[in-house]
Amino acid sequence: MDKQSFFTDKHILTHNYIPPEIYHRDEQISKIAKILAPSLKLEQPSNLFVYGTTGTGKSVVIKYVFKELLVANNTNIKSIYINCKLRRVSDTEYRMLATILRELNFPVPDTGLPTEALYTKLFELLDKRHQIILLALDELDALVTKIGDEILYNLTRINTELQNSKISIIGISNNISFTENLDPRVKSSLSEEEIIFPPYNALELKNILLDRANKALKEGICSEGVISKCAAIAAQEQGDARRALDLLRVAAELAERNNDLEITQKHVETAEQKLELDRIVELSKTQPKHSQMVFYSILKLFEKGGEQILTGDIYEIYSSLCKRNGFRMLTNRRISDLISELDMLGLISTKVISKGRYGRTREVRLAIAKKPFDILKTFFSDLYET
Ligand SMILES: Nc1ncnc2c1ncn2[C@@H]1O[C@H](COP(=O)(O)OP(=O)(O)OP(=O)(O)O)[C@@H](O)[C@H]1O
Ligand SMILES: [Mg+2]
Repeated sequence: MDKQSFFTDKHILTHNYIPPEIYHRDEQISKIAKILAPSLKLEQPSNLFVYGTTGTGKSVVIKYVFKELLVANNTNIKSIYINCKLRRVSDTEYRMLATILRELNFPVPDTGLPTEALYTKLFELLDKRHQIILLALDELDALVTKIGDEILYNLTRINTELQNSKISIIGISNNISFTENLDPRVKSSLSEEEIIFPPYNALELKNILLDRANKALKEGICSEGVISKCAAIAAQEQGDARRALDLLRVAAELAERNNDLEITQKHVETAEQKLELDRIVELSKTQPKHSQMVFYSILKLFEKGGEQILTGDIYEIYSSLCKRNGFRMLTNRRISDLISELDMLGLISTKVISKGRYGRTREVRLAIAKKPFDILKTFFSDLYET
C-alpha cells in the first residue's frame, strides 16, 4: 500500500497557527476587553499585566483581542504586539525603541543614533497622533533580563507629557518572579490591572485539541481516545495546550512514518518520550559552559556508580574539567548557585543534609532517565576534554 499522509494541514498543529476560535477563555477575554475598552473612546486604559504558566493561551488571547478590537475598526486605536524573546527586536534598548518606532511607520537605522534621539522621536510621533497606543510586550521577563526595566519606566512616564495620545502597556509573562526585581514604581504602574491565566484541565485541553485535530488530520485516523490521552498527559504536567498539541502532532508523525493505519495510544506514549528527550537534551545544550561542566561532573559521578553524590565530589571533578579545558574555576559559592539552577530546571534534585558539627552539605540525585543520560554524556564528552 502507498504510504498515506495523515495530515490535511499540518500547520494547524504547529505553534504559529492562530486558531479562529478560542476555547475556555471567555472570562479572560471579556476582562481584557473591558479593561482596554476605554481606548475606543480615546481614553487611556489602565496598564495590564497578564500572567500564567506556559501554554495557557496568553499570547493567542492577546492577539485575538487585538484583532477583535481592531475589527471594530477604530482609528482611535493603534495596537502593537512585540515578542520580547526575539533577539533582533529586544536585545538592546535601542532595538526595542526602533521596533516600536517602525511599528509607528517611522523607519530607524539598525544602529547609529543616540538612544535619547529615539525617545524624542517617539514622543514627537505619538504627540502628533490622536490615538491610544496599546503596546503588548509578550515574554516581558526576557526584555527585563536583557536590558533592565528603565525602558518600562520611561514608557509609562511618557504619558504625563503627552497631550494628544496615550500609551498603555500590556505586559505578558509566564514567569512571575521577575517582577520582584522591578523598580517598585514600574511594578505598580504595570500591574494597575492583573489577569491570571490558570492551567487548562484535561477536559478543556480535549476540546482545544478536538477542534485542531478535525482541521489538521485526515478523517478516521485519530480516535477520541487518542485525543483524550494527549489531553490527560498535558493536564497532568502543566495544563499546557502547546504540549498537548505537540503530543498529537508528534504521535501523528510517528504513525505516518511507521506506515500504520491510525494513530494509537502507543504512538502518544512514544511521542511523550521523544518530546521529553528533546526537551532535556535541548535544555542541557543551551546552558552556559560552567553550568554544563557542573552537570557533566554530576553525570560522571553517577556513571561511576554513585547513588547519592555530595557537593564536595562535584567540585573536585568540575575543577579538573576546568583545568583540562582551560577555564578558570568559579568560586564554590557560584558552583553552589549553578547546582541550585540545575535543580530548578529539573535535571537534578538536591536535598540539604546536616553533617552535625561539620555543617551542612547537599546530596544530589539525577532526575533524568537512561536515554537522555547516554545522549548527554556523549554530547559533553565530545565537547570537553576529560
Ligand atoms: N483556549 C485556546 N483555544 C484554542 N487554542 C489554544 C487555546 N489556548 C492555547 N491554545 C493554543 O495552544 C498553543 C499555546 O498557546 P499560547 O502560545 O497562547 O500560550 P502562552 O500562554 O502564550 O504560553 P507561553 O507562556 O509559553 O508563551 C497555541 O498553539 C495556541 O494556539
Ligand atoms: Mg506566549
